[in-house]
Amino acid sequence: MAPKMFHLQIQASALMGATLAILPGDPGRVERIARTMKNPKFLAQNREYMMWLAETEEGRKVVVCSTGIGGPSSAIAVEELAMCGIKDFLRVGTTGLIQPQIDPGTVVIMTGSVRLEGTSKHLAPIEYPAVAHHEWVRSLVDTARRLKIPHVVGVSASSDTFYQGQSRQDSFKKGFVVRELEGRMKEMEQLGVLSFEMEAGLILTQTSAFGLRGGAIAAGIVNRHRRELPDESIILDAEAKVIELAAKAIDSLAVGPS
Ligand code: URA
Repeated sequence: MAPKMFHLQIQASALMGATLAILPGDPGRVERIARTMKNPKFLAQNREYMMWLAETEEGRKVVVCSTGIGGPSSAIAVEELAMCGIKDFLRVGTTGLIQPQIDPGTVVIMTGSVRLEGTSKHLAPIEYPAVAHHEWVRSLVDTARRLKIPHVVGVSASSDTFYQGQSRQDSFKKGFVVRELEGRMKEMEQLGVLSFEMEAGLILTQTSAFGLRGGAIAAGIVNRHRRELPDESIILDAEAKVIELAAKAIDSLAVGPS
């Protein structure tokens, strides 16, 4: 009998030949994403990994699998999905915008991520770039333009912490950070980085290092020049945009590696 993946608790055959996965962080978002597509079906749930199977308009099978927050749990999801035959991975998340002019609700289409997190160093040396596959970037940008979804395209940054590593002042120790993290948001902003999130650095490094195709999009749910914490009233709407973009971009993604 084919082995069951230790964390995802599925056998490869459960994916019914799917070769593409959408990866939200939040298990609570998985069913919602699957239900925007055809034939949504619950697959399995263990720890932070909730999995559903669905189909795009054009009948492409898609696994929706949550990664949990941050690098370590995301690395397990990518590893085990790859062992089950997944070749295309799209992170669909949320992000904190750090360029002052970008409005919350804007979708960030990542061309790459600054690897400020630690997990990706287990997959490739730090000099190796965390870049999105060009076919993902192409189909995401084309689809966002066609659907008139407000978006920006560029580099994001992935942090291991939501508070200290993203220069938040509203933390337990009121903005105190170790020397290495001082001025991080300012520095990233000056370098033209669009936003902070916590998973793309790992996912894009791991997919590239494995010869797989990775992409990443995230809904901007706060502009850090205006607020510290996300604005709950815009989260549902912002997520709806990023989910619509993900579901539609899949059908214009070229089939197979190129
Ligand atoms: N996710 C993050 O990591 N940071 C934010 O500010 C918003 C979402």
